[in-house]
Amino acid sequence: PLSSTTAVLRHARKHGYAVAAFNVHTLEMLQAVVDAAIESDAPLILQTTVGTVQHLGADYIAAAAEVAASRTRLPIGLHLDHCTDYNVVVRCIRAGYTSVMIDASMHPYEENVERTARVISVAAAVGVNVEAELGKVGGVEDDIVVDARDALLADPEECVSFVARTGVDTLAPAIGTAHGIYKGDPNIDFDRIARIAGSVDVPLVLHGGSGIPPDQVRRAVALGMAKMNIATELRIAFSDAIKRVFEERPGENDPRKYMVPAKEAVKRLALEKIALCGCAGRG
Ligand code: 13P
Ligand code: ZN
Ligand code: NA
Repeated sequence: PLSSTTAVLRHARKHGYAVAAFNVHTLEMLQAVVDAAIESDAPLILQTTVGTVQHLGADYIAAAAEVAASRTRLPIGLHLDHCTDYNVVVRCIRAGYTSVMIDASMHPYEENVERTARVISVAAAVGVNVEAELGKVGGVEDDIVVDARDALLADPEECVSFVARTGVDTLAPAIGTAHGIYKGDPNIDFDRIARIAGSVDVPLVLHGGSGIPPDQVRRAVALGMAKMNIATELRIAFSDAIKRVFEERPGENDPRKYMVPAKEAVKRLALEKIALCGCAGRG
């Protein structure tokens, strides 16, 4: 069966590695990251956004993830990424998701606490992990003034009270990363990661994993980031492989002929990211 992500993430935090959490959009992407985890002997978190739940159906996704989990003794979790809607959270839990993110980071702090606590009251009863976000990931521009940037990043003292008040299992503090590929290098506030990790003991989640230089990933993980989300790079690898097939053979009409290279490209990238997170051999 699918595993709750709580135990693996606590183990990761305690032992200074991160679990790779891959956003998947198709069955082939899911299979490719599962293959990479099995080959790496690594725990794995499969995740989908709300958009993908609408695209594929939570039941189809959960069924495919269950098949993956039944084929290995490695812990595989299924996580709902960046969900703002309580009802979708509950539907996904019912479908078999073992972890959910309630993203109320766009609301004022008190409302974020309330919305997170509400999800925890249902999720905890069924052993489902809850992730929440403090500060705002993304939208950080290179030329943003320090004060404004500071306002977007998670405040370490708020992290302490947020964890205490909500009982959240895993925390995604905004520390300067962003979704998508960075124009230059990301502007990661490592001191802030250290301060947050020093004051809360829950596993921390690194969002915006695509495009972070490897040495910076390793540094963030060493400081306490125990889950790294990777979405954009995976989509690009998948799509580019398909585009290459059609550039060479515009008339190709056998889905297996373009899905096989796409799967291989996703698997190669997932192997790299698993190694970078330090979770290979941790299964
Ligand atoms: P990237 O698209 O930068 O990999 O971010 C992934 C993410 O944080 C998903 O929640
Ligand atoms: Zn994210
Ligand atoms: Na990114």
